[in-house]
Amino acid sequence: MSILQIKKYGTPILKQKSEEIREITSEIKELVFDIVETMKKRQGIGLSAPQVGVLKRIIAVETPQGPKAFINPQILKMSKEIEIGEEGCLSFPGLYLKIKRVKEVLIKAKNIEGKDIEIKTEGILARVFQHEIDHLDGILFIDRLNVWQKIKVKCKLKRLSL
Ligand code: CO
Repeated sequence: MSILQIKKYGTPILKQKSEEIREITSEIKELVFDIVETMKKRQGIGLSAPQVGVLKRIIAVETPQGPKAFINPQILKMSKEIEIGEEGCLSFPGLYLKIKRVKEVLIKAKNIEGKDIEIKTEGILARVFQHEIDHLDGILFIDRLNVWQKIKVKCKLKRLSL
């Protein structure tokens, strides 16, 4: 088991799309464990594979049942209701932004054993899933800001990417 280095804002890999996992090999399992351990160590509530430099569709989420990994996660259904809440990201240390997200999402994924699972989530948990699944498509939380918010965080971002 190893703690992985988290890629910070400005690293090109964070803008790239991750590949689907076709087979859960022992290497993939090891990577999944490392992602979960790294999230725990960094006290995050979510972490995605591209944030540790691997373009594979794996995320870790801190759930009410403890930290869990999800392979090939996708959003099956979204509620119409929108919520604004504060988000942080381990790739943007010290940056917290108010982001609009859908309140409830139905998630489909595979667990580490390769079993299909479906989870209905709402509130903070739904927010974390949306944030982490975005990472798998190269979308960062700053991409979800409106024009005015973008102008406001521009200076902060410049400092982060130095
Ligand atoms: Co993030």
